[in-house]
Amino acid sequence: MKILAFESSCDETAAAVVEDGRSVLSSVIASSLEEQRLYGGVVPEIASRRHAEWISGVAEQALAQASVTMQEIDAVAVTAAPGLIGALLVGVNYAKSLAFAANKPLVPVHHLRGHIAANYLAHQDLQPPFLCLVVSGGHSHIVAVDSYTDFRVIGRTRDDAAGECFDKAARAMGMPYPGGVALDKIAETGNPKAYNFPRPHVDGSEYDFSFSGLKTAVINLLHRAEQVGETLDHADVCASFRDRVVEMLCTNTMKAADEFGYRTVVLAGGVSANAELRRRMTALCEQSGRKLYMPPLSLCGDNAAMIGAQAYYEYLAGNAADSSLNAAPTMPIDKVVWG
Ligand code: KG4
Ligand code: ZN
Repeated sequence: MKILAFESSCDETAAAVVEDGRSVLSSVIASSLEEQRLYGGVVPEIASRRHAEWISGVAEQALAQASVTMQEIDAVAVTAAPGLIGALLVGVNYAKSLAFAANKPLVPVHHLRGHIAANYLAHQDLQPPFLCLVVSGGHSHIVAVDSYTDFRVIGRTRDDAAGECFDKAARAMGMPYPGGVALDKIAETGNPKAYNFPRPHVDGSEYDFSFSGLKTAVINLLHRAEQVGETLDHADVCASFRDRVVEMLCTNTMKAADEFGYRTVVLAGGVSANAELRRRMTALCEQSGRKLYMPPLSLCGDNAAMIGAQAYYEYLAGNAADSSLNAAPTMPIDKVVWG
């Protein structure tokens, strides 16, 4: 089954053709990131405008690169939640019109389910059940993946997402948006023990995260140094800060894997590209005899291939939509309802 999938939840306008949820026939991504950098973050209005301009072009390219015609496509899939509402609506309306005009089923996909499914494209042997740490710019979840379409949230962030926390710390050090990647690179050259950042604790749930105190601690450190004219070694600040974020992510994930008896652990989302997170999780899973799956770096960030992968399993589970489909800015991964 060949699915033409779309992703437009943030600043990437993407289309891909995916076969049977596992094989990428094409994947095209146009990004407004360079333009967004001028403003230090994603301006929703700019994202929506670029999606509207680019979506038909990326669709045509995805079909051409896969060497398939619209007649050979079996279903149209689209990210319908969560994300920037104006941005999502461009993809949803385009996919609805295309599915209607070509008389194909329409399959809505939850963005975070898509991030998890990126792993199915790279690891043909991976099947649920498994425990997944989903860490992106907007979300940080520990999720039990019971089947391809059944999810349970075990832990979540109470405030900032891990990616957001990386981006805000990076911004305070003058790095361009999104600073997570640059911070990770600079951290490689620093001393992770140079600064003793706090380990924010969440009362009530041992699997939940809280990153805002850590973010404030690094921003305060930088501001104080600036006020007294002190020069800090940013490599040490980055390394110490990254070490603490990664420690929090790994500790809760491994605790949940122990408690709920998971032998397979999976990483997903933009932050799963983080070098220290990948190293630390590899070591922890090796030590405890667990299997670890991570997306290749090319599939960590937003793309439409991951949406096409998840859409295949949503379609098999009967989760197609009709032309009344709407986009939603928020939606829990475990309670997906399309109206
Ligand atoms: O999944 P994603 O592409 O978009 C969302 O769905 O949010 O994630 C983007 C986030 C950004 O916050 C970005 O800074 C972060 O992922 N990110 C990283 C790294 N690469 C991307 N954070 C830390 N280290 C990285 N290497
Ligand atoms: Zn994403």
